Amino acid sequence: MKNIIAPSILSADFGNLQRDIEMINQSEADWFHVDVMDGVFVPNISFGFPVMAAVKKHAFKPLDVHLMIVEPDKYIEDFAKAGASRITVHYEACTHLHRTIQLIKASGCKAGVALNPHTPVNLLQDVIEDLDLVLIMSVNPGFGGQAFIHNTYKKIRDLKALVQGVNENLIIEVDGGVGLQNITALVSAGANAFVAGNAIFATDNPTETIAKMKSLTASTISI
Ligand code: DX5
Ligand code: ZN
Repeated sequence: MKNIIAPSILSADFGNLQRDIEMINQSEADWFHVDVMDGVFVPNISFGFPVMAAVKKHAFKPLDVHLMIVEPDKYIEDFAKAGASRITVHYEACTHLHRTIQLIKASGCKAGVALNPHTPVNLLQDVIEDLDLVLIMSVNPGFGGQAFIHNTYKKIRDLKALVQGVNENLIIEVDGGVGLQNITALVSAGANAFVAGNAIFATDNPTETIAKMKSLTASTISI
């Protein structure tokens, strides 16, 4: 399975959003990571449908939508219509997670579930076969630019063990504090999709940083 680089547009310059989207289009990145925050599930508000529509208009790569919102069921159809390819909801925000996963699939999108740093991966045991992606949060969600939480490596290994023989095509995505300094170790642990905001947009040459991340993931073998 090829490794995916998903720049988070949360760290883009919103005054020059089209420029930053074009940069991602031209780069070796695979997806656009779109962080939607409601100020309730997380202590921050990012953006909603008008911004997502603007991104969709210019983006040539799939939109990987990460919903950090309560009651996501209400909006899944709208996010699918707005151009999402993948929709990831938080385990901690879903009372009826099985139903939510089915709703995402019925909308025509790939289905993902995100886990906060305190949520163990084995809680997904009874839905793991239905999932296309699990997003392991390596920071507490809400803000870009936070420090990576080390326990993430253990969670990736636990998740690899959980999917063994059951859903080996599952994408294991890591989000928060990911960059050139830890991407190799994350691949080794078993992750294959990497969200990065600050590590890309705060560098002098984001295109080059994406290329470096991509080549590091390509030259590392998962164990
Ligand atoms: C955090 C978001 C992340 C964030 C990552 O709540 O889900 O996608 O943009 O940003 P960095 O890579 O700067 O930690
Ligand atoms: Zn995210």
